Amino acid sequence: MSSANPYIEGEEIRRPTQSYELTVVVEETGERRTIIVDPAALPYSHDGEPGSILDVLLGAGIELDHACGGVCACSTCHVIVREGLETANESTEDEEDQLDNAPALTPQSRLGCQCVPDGSKPVTVEIPRWNRNNAREGD
Ligand code: FES
Repeated sequence: MSSANPYIEGEEIRRPTQSYELTVVVEETGERRTIIVDPAALPYSHDGEPGSILDVLLGAGIELDHACGGVCACSTCHVIVREGLETANESTEDEEDQLDNAPALTPQSRLGCQCVPDGSKPVTVEIPRWNRNNAREGD
């Protein structure tokens, strides 16, 4: 699966140049896990923008639903960025359009496949409760 939708014009994305902490919280269980993101290892997977939250979570074995394969064509990768949102790229109109279809939308909502933190601060993301059946840890 490709990592970007060629029909979507991207905003400029600043990829991380230093290691940073990304903490994921599963709302349903309160489970937390912190990942050290190593920019030299990006991309971790082949879904979503390189260095995106989806990319990092999949690379760490934390499953996040991503029905369209990470090309900004669904809303199943919805996450809420509780801390560090200001370190991420701006959302595009296409991302906003897809997010409009996500339940439990918040001002801190992003598509995990499109949101790329620049690594300048720690980031905390929450996987919303409605998405609980789609979030599970891998081996
Ligand atoms: Fe479809 Fe992110 S996986 S929009």
